[in-house]
Amino acid sequence: MIVEKEYTEGKITFISADVDHYTENKKQPTSDMPVFMNPRMRLNRDFSVLFLSAYLEESPIELMCEPLAGCGVRTLRYLKECQGTFDALMFDANPNAVDIINRNIHSLELSDRARAQHGDAKVLLLTESRGKRFDYVDVDPFGTPVPYLNAAIQSMSPRGGLLALTATDMAALYGVYPRVALRKYGGLSIRTPFSHELAVRLVIGHTFTVAGANDFSIAPLAVLSTDHYIRIWLRVKADRNEANRQADDMGLVMYCPECMHAEVIPLRSRREYGKIAHQKDGCSGKLGTAGPLWIGRLYDTSILNTAERIMPEMEDVFEKRVMRMLKMMVGESALDTHPFIDIHALCDLHALVPPKLTEIISAIRESGNLAERTHFRPTAIRTDVKAGEVTDIITELTGAK
Ligand SMILES: C[S@@+](CC[C@H](N)C(=O)[O-])C[C@H]1O[C@@H](n2cnc3c(N)ncnc32)[C@H](O)[C@@H]1O
Ligand SMILES: [Zn+2]
Repeated sequence: MIVEKEYTEGKITFISADVDHYTENKKQPTSDMPVFMNPRMRLNRDFSVLFLSAYLEESPIELMCEPLAGCGVRTLRYLKECQGTFDALMFDANPNAVDIINRNIHSLELSDRARAQHGDAKVLLLTESRGKRFDYVDVDPFGTPVPYLNAAIQSMSPRGGLLALTATDMAALYGVYPRVALRKYGGLSIRTPFSHELAVRLVIGHTFTVAGANDFSIAPLAVLSTDHYIRIWLRVKADRNEANRQADDMGLVMYCPECMHAEVIPLRSRREYGKIAHQKDGCSGKLGTAGPLWIGRLYDTSILNTAERIMPEMEDVFEKRVMRMLKMMVGESALDTHPFIDIHALCDLHALVPPKLTEIISAIRESGNLAERTHFRPTAIRTDVKAGEVTDIITELTGAK
């Protein structure tokens, strides 16, 4: 007998296995629960409801699929909280999960719009999309979404659709295991103060490759990064010419730990890797390499603007921080091809006392350049000036030297 509990999240009340009962002595839900549900993923689900709603303003959808659905909370929230009359399929390899999803569908009176099926996501994505392809696929697995990516893209409508991916295998993506990142994502990860961003770029880069192999192009709409996972929303479309052009959005990021200089190098550029600016500035630190990875944009400004416009109608059921984070995403989107710089890490490196971020941002703007906060980290900024110049600005602000 599974110990169950009733939960409320967003606009729905549903049942799942009792998280407190099954996680006694553990810090968070684990994959050996009889049915998996992580209340801490609510932020991920809130943003997913928001960005699907923003996407629906431009592109109505008919059929969506959540191939790794757990108790179904995510999709059931889409059906109750997003506009439109789309239908949904949910899959799970765990029969207990499918049983609970079916009971949640029934109690929420969604039997005419939602169906759950037991089986392997990779297989069902392909077989269940044969009659009608999906307009939205939400891949929210344990660990990496990579094993499901090919089937997910092949299940999607060639006219275009929304693909959302969660990754929680952060040790590989943050540079603790660079070889694992290369094996899974086709690019090396590296430990830097902006590894969260490199993680996002590795996942998008791999998605570009898998989509491209299927003659699909990609366009990132938004990304979300927190300590224990990353989340990516992309528009995908059968368009091999656009996918060919996007080869220019793949590259390497070189990083010097001694001056925190980051250099973004398109794979197709003819740059001499040996002549990177930090050496001209007198630093002789050795550069590490991340990638190949996605060096293009992370956000679609129009989707973010729509999300900001519709947010007031939805926010009363969201976590409070959603609005604050969305505002930061809007701000940073104009500078999203410049890897963020962690000011505290930069100050630690140069034994400086960090000034307020607002002071640094104002000083950079007064010098005629751009600077914004980033949702990735409370201590970081995005700017079009290099780390060396940011160090000079901080030195001046703090009167050090
Ligand atoms: C992280 S949980 C899903 C959580 C859910 N998306 C949510 O937002 O609450 C991952 C789910 O994938 C299921 N799963 C694992 N491997 C699978 C596979 N090969 N095919 C289908 N489901 C699978 C697990 O049983 C688990 O319910
Ligand atoms: Zn250097």
